[in-house]
Amino acid sequence: MLNDIQRLMAEVQAAALSTREEVDQYHRTYTAKKGAIQALFDQFKQVAPEQRREIGKALNELKTLAEARLQEASHALEQAREVPAPTDLSRPGLPHWQGSRHPLSLVTERVVNIFQRVGFSVDEGPEVETDWYNFTALNFEANHPARDMQDTFFVRRDANDYTQDLLLRTHTSNVQIRAMERMKDMKQPIRLVMPGRVYRNEAISARAHCFFHQIEGLVIDKGVSYADLKLMLQYFVDNLFGGNIPVRLRPSYFPFTEISAEVDVQCRVCGGDGCQLCKHTGWVEILGCGMVDPNVLANCGIDPEGYSGYAFGMGVERIAQLLYRVPDLRLYSQNDYRFLAQFQGWH
Ligand code: PHE
Repeated sequence: MLNDIQRLMAEVQAAALSTREEVDQYHRTYTAKKGAIQALFDQFKQVAPEQRREIGKALNELKTLAEARLQEASHALEQAREVPAPTDLSRPGLPHWQGSRHPLSLVTERVVNIFQRVGFSVDEGPEVETDWYNFTALNFEANHPARDMQDTFFVRRDANDYTQDLLLRTHTSNVQIRAMERMKDMKQPIRLVMPGRVYRNEAISARAHCFFHQIEGLVIDKGVSYADLKLMLQYFVDNLFGGNIPVRLRPSYFPFTEISAEVDVQCRVCGGDGCQLCKHTGWVEILGCGMVDPNVLANCGIDPEGYSGYAFGMGVERIAQLLYRVPDLRLYSQNDYRFLAQFQGWH
């Protein structure tokens, strides 16, 4: 029997225990209840009393060693599972993708921030709007062409009574009306920037899309003048593009402003020399603006005798085009990874 013990001792010492299979096999062969060591303990009962001391000692040593090796090997396997041993420490790590911001979000944030710095708050309104907020309160006449199906997406159209219409807003000017109605008691001046998505029934091409984004501005207080508007626009343009940027105001028309103007900036691509983007005029239009029409103030419950104000509205895609030279409007909504990945942060 002593021979058997010594043989097993040698086997246990030599056993390879680096895989789960090897360890399981080892346990079944030696340390399990039906394994070889237990079998020797069963035989031990027949050992003659004078041999018991010597054989018992050897048997216990075998058992202790066998179990210690099992435990050690199991522990090592456990550890190896938690932290896989690196095979090549010089290998480059896995790339960490940062994600990028959408250019329209970057531009919106930048524009809003320029106005927040001089005391404007941010406001938003619904994209599905009633006729009142999108048209009527803004002084659009009953038969104004913008009310045509060709320009506006209607959600619900009443054949007899247009005041019941529901539509996708065609501009962010609806938020002006909602804000003025809400703040008509004029406990404090109104000074808001209002970013949002707008919809128009246009065929999609490089230069037109059925939805785009605008940022509206509105200031109402006692004694607000056209000069205040011009000063604010110059501040905005200089901060948006950086530097002293030539700006010009061209007389224009909007139903909800009187007087009205369109604002051009000197072309940021050619510096005014003339290029494709500015159609060789040296100027690019960036926004519409004007003094809020007294009718509009009255529609919102603000006394046009006591208060005046200005409003402006710009297209975010247009500004982004000037800042980033995006050649095709469709790129903004196609989710092309190669396009989006170029916008990593501020510029
Ligand atoms: N709502 C006008 C448009 O969509 C822009 C505008 C806003 C003009 C505010 C004047 C004042 O074209």
